[in-house]
Amino acid sequence: MTGKFITFEGPDGAGKTTQMKRAAQALQEKGYEVILTREPGGTEIGESIRSILLDPQNRMSHRTEALLYAAARAQHVEELILPALQAGKVVLCDRFADSTLAYQGYGRGINLNLLNIVNSLAIGSLKPDLTIILDLDPQVGLNRIRNKRLAVAGETEDRIEMEKVEFHQRVREGFLSIALQDPGRYKIIAAGMDEDKVFEKVMACINGVFS
Ligand SMILES: Nc1ncnc2c1ncn2[C@@H]1O[C@H](COP(=O)(O)OP(=O)(O)OP(=O)(O)O)[C@@H](O)[C@H]1O
Ligand SMILES: [Mg+2]
Repeated sequence: MTGKFITFEGPDGAGKTTQMKRAAQALQEKGYEVILTREPGGTEIGESIRSILLDPQNRMSHRTEALLYAAARAQHVEELILPALQAGKVVLCDRFADSTLAYQGYGRGINLNLLNIVNSLAIGSLKPDLTIILDLDPQVGLNRIRNKRLAVAGETEDRIEMEKVEFHQRVREGFLSIALQDPGRYKIIAAGMDEDKVFEKVMACINGVFS
């Protein structure tokens, strides 16, 4: 495998989409072929699963939720991520397997060993070269999202964003615990700083992967 696989994780509203777009542009300017993708989603099947997962009308069991995320991920890996990496591209992915551990594990309380097995089924031996965790107080992130939504008439919160702040706190702590297990792969960046400062740190981490 010749490409690079970089995932972005962190609470809702931490700035993943903002930073990924900027990173993609910077890498393209350096001559890399970049694929920007997201979970759940990234493929037609994945986007269909995404709409089921995020629909606030759906009352869903936690296990169904975990398995649907994994199903979308399996399709994503096989159809898009692996072929892109094999073609030497840089894949920037908005959320990946660690979100399952943080949200369905630390957030919902599903056994982490079981989730690791589900993740292995979905991704096989694929492991990101780098996982950037944008760390932010979840209340700040949720406020950012609410402000963003106010600017777009008719947009409402999705099923996960609607969870109470304690849930999002557990998710945040979850990401930090996961990162401790492999400091080589995970880089934690404080995402409360202004966008340009966060971007400097993001690019420093990404440049490390190419050096
Ligand atoms: N460093 C920052 N400081 C203040 N506001 C920011 C910062 N980074 C991003 N924002 C703003 O916060 C909002 C959420 O950012 P963004 O959509 O990039 O987050 P996200 O992590 O992708 O969120 P989601 O989990 O909802 O996809 C946007 O309106 C964005 O412009
Ligand atoms: Mg986003």
